[in-house]
Amino acid sequence: MNIIRFDTIDSTSSYLKREWEHLEDSSVVTSHHQTAGKGRLGRTWEDDSGSVVFSVLLKENLDEERIHLLPLLCGTCLYEVLRRYGISSSIKWPNDVLIDGKKCAGILLESVFEKKLEALVVGIGVNVNSLSFDGDLKKKATSLFLSTGRKFDQDRFLLDYLDCFFSSYRKYQNGDDGFLDVLKKHSYLDGKMVLLDYYGENRNCLVLGINDDGSLKVKEKDKVYSVFSGEATLHSNYHPLG
Ligand code: BTN
Repeated sequence: MNIIRFDTIDSTSSYLKREWEHLEDSSVVTSHHQTAGKGRLGRTWEDDSGSVVFSVLLKENLDEERIHLLPLLCGTCLYEVLRRYGISSSIKWPNDVLIDGKKCAGILLESVFEKKLEALVVGIGVNVNSLSFDGDLKKKATSLFLSTGRKFDQDRFLLDYLDCFFSSYRKYQNGDDGFLDVLKKHSYLDGKMVLLDYYGENRNCLVLGINDDGSLKVKEKDKVYSVFSGEATLHSNYHPLG
């Protein structure tokens, strides 16, 4: 496995998007610190010395029809590694992993498109040994350390994650989406009311579960439908039984 290590870089994902042509498939980039870490929906991603941040370049045998499953695969691998570490977590469709309802990891999937799809860059940030969070994040974020009181070897964590990721990804490339079973069992949103950003329109929906194709099954009033991508915010004022 080709792991490129930096002490400081703007963003491991931006690096791969610049250098994808010169690097081999499955290259991994990690850095102790990012000066311009990117989150989803144009947000920034802040790291500290306790974070593990890395990106993976995928450029061979890409399956355009099943790209939307990749963040889910990444999230299930995080769930799996945390389980092996004795930490119980859940996967918040489509991109986050939570411990006790607080986010400990985020996943950003980006593509390189030049006339056709050339490469995918999967960027992952995990709060491993982070000691504290400021402001608004205090309520919303956690780290493996904060939730267990234990410190983890950050390099070991990266290698354990990559082992899980590449083994799941090989299966996925062969059409085996077994990871969806893990997702279905440990999906955070099941049974919750969410405010769904549905193609720019806000909808209050009850989450019924995850479909076999990885989409989110939701119910709005009496209508059941499936959502393939988007942002689901927990709706604190609504309760399915209330
Ligand atoms: C999110 O939750 O909004 C996604 C966060 C993804 C952050 C990771 S850290 C490594 C990689 N490089 C980036 O600039 N972003 C991703």
